Amino acid sequence: MASDQLDYRFDRRVAGSYDALRGHPAAVTPAIGEALARELGTGAQVLEPGVGTGRIALPLIGAGCEVTGIDLSSEMLAALAGQARAGLRLVRGDITRLPFADSAFDGAVCVHVLHLVDAQTVLAQLLSLVRPGGTIILGRDWVDPASFAGRLRNAFRQAVVDLAESVDFPTGARGLVQTLVGLGGEPVDNGEERTAVEWETTLSPAQVLDGIRSRDDAESWVLPDPLLARVMARLDAEAAASWPDLEAPQPVTRRFVYSLFRVPAA
Ligand SMILES: C[S@@+](CC[C@H](N)C(=O)[O-])C[C@H]1O[C@@H](n2cnc3c(N)ncnc32)[C@H](O)[C@@H]1O
Repeated sequence: MASDQLDYRFDRRVAGSYDALRGHPAAVTPAIGEALARELGTGAQVLEPGVGTGRIALPLIGAGCEVTGIDLSSEMLAALAGQARAGLRLVRGDITRLPFADSAFDGAVCVHVLHLVDAQTVLAQLLSLVRPGGTIILGRDWVDPASFAGRLRNAFRQAVVDLAESVDFPTGARGLVQTLVGLGGEPVDNGEERTAVEWETTLSPAQVLDGIRSRDDAESWVLPDPLLARVMARLDAEAAASWPDLEAPQPVTRRFVYSLFRVPAA
């Protein structure tokens, strides 16, 4: 399977369930906004490429920033437009061709989007669209790799690598940091990830397996049916051998983490 065959469509199926599947707990959402707004500056004009349903944009506005969100998916934007508020501007467009003026923004925030596009093309534009001295944030949801959910996630990726004829997983967080540094972004703390907020959830192995099986995330929804069936057969067997009661809830530590960059002086 070549990467150019991957089909990440944020259509009605995904848009309708995105917040239910990916949303942060109510107590966590404002903490993400406050942590990012502290880095960007209160009142900052912020660009969010791939804004989706506003999972990050809305708490940023809640913390005092003004956000311009751009997204290709009219369904994702429609879900966000229903929560319209002062400080939010929405644009439908392709983030590989961002339609904004140089230095139009004080900062930019990218969360779970650069793996879907040519990251270098987007990041190069952000270095022009954010003013010199401004801030670029690369954020992501983190799941404790030592938790059962983290172990299942790694087992999933290993099974895909082993069972697919060829696979090209998207660039991870470290690769994105290197790309932005290569383009001239100035990393704060060498791009080491900071934690905006940490929380704990409880989930059962059966729930995580069902989520992968029902293609709840981009990594599983792009797999062809026969490959997903073979991957699941292996994962089900590994899970049964590891956890005697697949329905028993277990704690999982999660975080929202981000790397911080400054745009160099012109
Ligand atoms: C996984 S969602 C992340 C949404 C949001 N950043 C978040 O963390 O909740 C990825 C979003 O990127 C959008 N997207 C993917 N490729 C795009 C492109 N070339 N131009 C604009 N938006 C794009 C999708 O439509 C989707 O809304």
